[in-house]
Formats: sequence, C-alpha cells, structure tokens
Amino acid sequence: MTEQSPKPFLYVVVCAAGVAADVSKLITAAQERGWEVGVIATPVAMNGFFDAVAVRAQTGRPIRSAWRTPGEPRPFPEPDAVVVAPATFNTVNKWAAGIADTLALGTLCEAAGLGVPIAVLPCVGTALAAHPAYRDSLERLAAMGVRFGAPYAGETAPDGGRTEFPWERALDLVRPG
Ligand SMILES: Cc1cc2nc3c(=O)[nH]c(=O)nc-3n(C[C@H](O)[C@H](O)[C@H](O)COP(=O)(O)O)c2cc1C
Repeated sequence: MTEQSPKPFLYVVVCAAGVAADVSKLITAAQERGWEVGVIATPVAMNGFFDAVAVRAQTGRPIRSAWRTPGEPRPFPEPDAVVVAPATFNTVNKWAAGIADTLALGTLCEAAGLGVPIAVLPCVGTALAAHPAYRDSLERLAAMGVRFGAPYAGETAPDGGRTEFPWERALDLVRPG
C-alpha cells in the first residue's frame, strides 16, 4: 500500500553537480514552506556529491537511488511536486530523450504524466550548454510543461566570486496558484 502524507510531498531529485553539496539548503527551505521532502539521487550523485547521512537525518527518510525490488512497498508517497536541483547536462538530455535507466530518470520520465508541477534548476557550464542536444532537450521539456530556473554555469567570476545557486527559486516555481 502507498503511504499517505499529511503534508504535501515534494520529490527532490539530486544530480551529480558540485553544487549538490549544498542541497540541505533546499531541503530546509522546502520544509519551512510546509513540504515533506523525499530525496531521490542519481547513482553518481550518491558517490560523494552531498552528505547522504545528513540529508537522511534532515528528511527523516532514506535517500532513494536504486529501484526497489518488486515485492517492496513504494518507498515514498506519490509526489505533489518534483524539483530537480541541481540538474546536470547528462540527466536533462536523458530525461528529454525518455531514458529511464536510473530511479531518478524513471521518476522524472513519469512525473510529467502525473500532472504535478516540475521545476528544474540546471547547473551546466557554458561550453556544455552550447551543445545543440542540450538546447533541444530544454525545448522539449519546456513543451511538456516543465518549469526552468535561469541558466547557472557555476563558473567563477573575474573577481573570484561565484553566484549563489538559486535553491529557493525551485520552490517558487512549484508554488501552487
Ligand atoms: C566534481 C564534479 C563536478 C561536476 N559538476 C557538474 C555540473 O555542475 N554540471 C554537470 O552537468 N555535470 C557536472 N559534472 C559531471 C557529472 O557528474 C557527470 O556528467 C555525471 O555523469 C552526471 O550524472 P547524473 O546526471 O546521473 O547525476 C561534475 C563532475 C564532477 C566530478
């Protein structure tokens, strides 16, 4: 049986980009806005891109990365919204192409069909973002109703500073109403 959550349930899909180290900021902000959060990470992201122990403690739930076995119950309730932050070049392209070979991608491929709001905060360097496949992927996902934050390249400015990743923008994009 699928668990019911008294609060709206937000899936946070985490990809393997450097900024994922700060994903706790997104979880805190989401919880402050009344969301219950379940994290689904790509297998590469689980490989040291963020503090999985801290995120597990913060959400009170296991992080999902692998498919469950057929006999296991669904680990999270159905989502009321999905955010992908950070979203990598790799995941954006595979998702747009309909590839579902990880739990994160399978979840994303299914999400648009569920009719729930989906927000994406890409973190893709300028050179990679120039690839035509990436532009096509963004267009295709936008046509499916997926909402995007501003491009973020994560590159260092000439003064040595770096723009903060806009975590809370993802929550604004899935806000009801
Ligand atoms: C330290 C580090 C930082 C990375 N940062 C990014 C990034 O910001 N954006 C990106 O698209 N890929 C980045 N990559 C490359 C991805 O990790 C790689 O393409 C991976 O296959 C993505 O897997 P995923 O989309 O399944 O998470 C980074 C790799 C490393 C080792």
